[in-house]
Amino acid sequence: MSTAIESNLKEKRVFKPTKEFSKAARIQSLAQYREMWEESIERPDKFWGREASELTWQTKWSKVLDWKEPYAQWFVGGKLNVSENCLDRHLLTARKNKAAIIWEGEPGEKRVLTYQQLHREVCRFANVLKRNKIKKGDRVLIYMPMIPEAAVAMLACARIGATHSVVFGGFSADSIRDRITDSKAVMVITTDGGYRRGSIVPLKKNVDDALRDDPQSIKKVIVFRRAGNDVHIEEGRDVWWHREMDYVNAVCPAEPLDSEHPLFILYTSGSTGKPKGILHTTGGYLLQAYATSKYVFDLRDEDVYWCTADIGWVTGHSYVVYGPLACGATSLMYEGAPNWPENDRFWRIIEEYAVTVFYTAPTAIRAFIRWGDQWIKKHDLSSLRLLGSVGEPISPDAWMWYHNVIGGGRCPIVDTWWQTETGAIMITTLPGAIPAKPGSAGLPFFGVDAVIVDDDGKEVGPNVGGKVVIRKPWPSMLRSIYGDKPRYKKTYWSEVKGAYFAGDGAHRDKDGYFLIAGRIDDVLNVAGHRLGTSEIEGALGSHPAVAEAAVVGRPDELKGQGVVAFVVLKGGIAVEPHLREELRQHVGQVIGPIAKPDDIRFAEGLPKTRSGKIMRRLLKEIAGGKAITGDTTTLEDLSIIAKLSSNSD
Ligand code: WT7
Repeated sequence: MSTAIESNLKEKRVFKPTKEFSKAARIQSLAQYREMWEESIERPDKFWGREASELTWQTKWSKVLDWKEPYAQWFVGGKLNVSENCLDRHLLTARKNKAAIIWEGEPGEKRVLTYQQLHREVCRFANVLKRNKIKKGDRVLIYMPMIPEAAVAMLACARIGATHSVVFGGFSADSIRDRITDSKAVMVITTDGGYRRGSIVPLKKNVDDALRDDPQSIKKVIVFRRAGNDVHIEEGRDVWWHREMDYVNAVCPAEPLDSEHPLFILYTSGSTGKPKGILHTTGGYLLQAYATSKYVFDLRDEDVYWCTADIGWVTGHSYVVYGPLACGATSLMYEGAPNWPENDRFWRIIEEYAVTVFYTAPTAIRAFIRWGDQWIKKHDLSSLRLLGSVGEPISPDAWMWYHNVIGGGRCPIVDTWWQTETGAIMITTLPGAIPAKPGSAGLPFFGVDAVIVDDDGKEVGPNVGGKVVIRKPWPSMLRSIYGDKPRYKKTYWSEVKGAYFAGDGAHRDKDGYFLIAGRIDDVLNVAGHRLGTSEIEGALGSHPAVAEAAVVGRPDELKGQGVVAFVVLKGGIAVEPHLREELRQHVGQVIGPIAKPDDIRFAEGLPKTRSGKIMRRLLKEIAGGKAITGDTTTLEDLSIIAKLSSNSD
């Protein structure tokens, strides 16, 4: 260990795993990590080949990696099935009757599915998909709440080689429609509704609205009855999940799929245009989801593991479903809000099921801090042994609180940096091997050649800020943007020569630890949700009263970033107080409630440079100031501020 770590240790800025934790962990020391990391970088074939042999392959690969920048193929010639790896292989062991999924609904229902039961449900539902004419390669959109059937639907698609695209339940009908159009999905799997803070979210109605205008590519809608709310059933198109399940048996062999067969498309926001469909494939994705679950969460058969992410995000894909199930772990799923019926719902769940590994987001941690420690003190959290964080940088203060109050001062924290595009964890501290430093994500995972570069693409030294790039392909990397290879190449592999550009700014300390500063493109991170400013601008611009809009982020104590919109109205339209709420609702309708601006400020014009570019930096500064109070009908004259500003061009 370097002397810098030693001196930090004395000042308690570095948290070393305890001897007991290290002794029981898979990777037990910094030296062991370094040795393995070096091997993984120098001899990826050997390293990943060894890891991959822990999975079940129907046909072994002939070549570990075929790389022609920016296109990677992992485990060329290999055939496997993700659902077989997550289910069937555990049935041959004592895990057969182990809990695969422990579920709690928001109203309080409890269900446990053993590996055997989950396997049975997945096989039957895969037969339902076949009965409804779904074939290998078809795209299937999944729009469901956090219920076991969401995992069943994903695994059933994987079983027959259909490519799923999960859409987060908080997205609107318009967002569903855009994703159907882009992916040319032929089926939607949804529920009547789902519970959120005691109310029912009308998921099926949103699907109906999305499909209203034209029949599109969708031939079938399968509806699971979850909330019991009334829904419209379109004859010939919509069928009930439970009725369909009556027609099928539980025999459905897992389809042998090419290692590069598309497993899923997940839409995420970029700095321009509409959300892009991030494409992930089979072998490499599963391998890294598996290997990170194994090494980062150090999953054991005794663990009760809970990742609080929704399956609508990549975290839910990799760390609620595929990673933990590939490890044969017990994965806990909870349907609803953390503050329903009271602020201690999460702690109740941890106590009741004796959760051992808990993985959540800084935005949630900030809410817990605000709600107060009394909610936590009411519960016995002594089962916890490891904590994780993901989605945005966690401040040292929030880290310390998480460590002391939730972790009782005894649990290592793994801060995990990764992205929808990376598919799995890329930078973290392996809990038994790498000391953690509050506020820093840590060191690259095996096989990850992450560095910081300057604007010329040159690697910078310690404590110098720059762009996060990854110089070598990794197994779970995105393979493309669905249907748009040129955009894939341009967005990720053109900004910095010979490397993947992540879109984040960061610096490394003397020990090589990454301190992530956040996005340096026009992407916002609102409560851990990724939103493109251009997307929200587009939504505002589609309102009849709006001439032009510019959206920027401002620091927000709870959400990390808040959304501020500067709006110029069309000539003759007066600023009226109700317009603010109307525009917020409109954005909610076009994208989803998560994208509603926190603040809308009306302006006479947007400050622009002589060449016509919106001066975003200036808008960010204005947005970071106090929100306007008082007269809500005032128009701001931003052009004056622009003129006063020194950087007016
Ligand atoms: C962006 C990716 C990875 C699943 C959740 C978000 C930010 C993510 C961290 C972290 C600092 C983080 C980055 C990244 N981010 N994890 N541990 N520390 N920043 O996935 O929606 O694709 O967003 O989230 O800015 O680029 P995503």
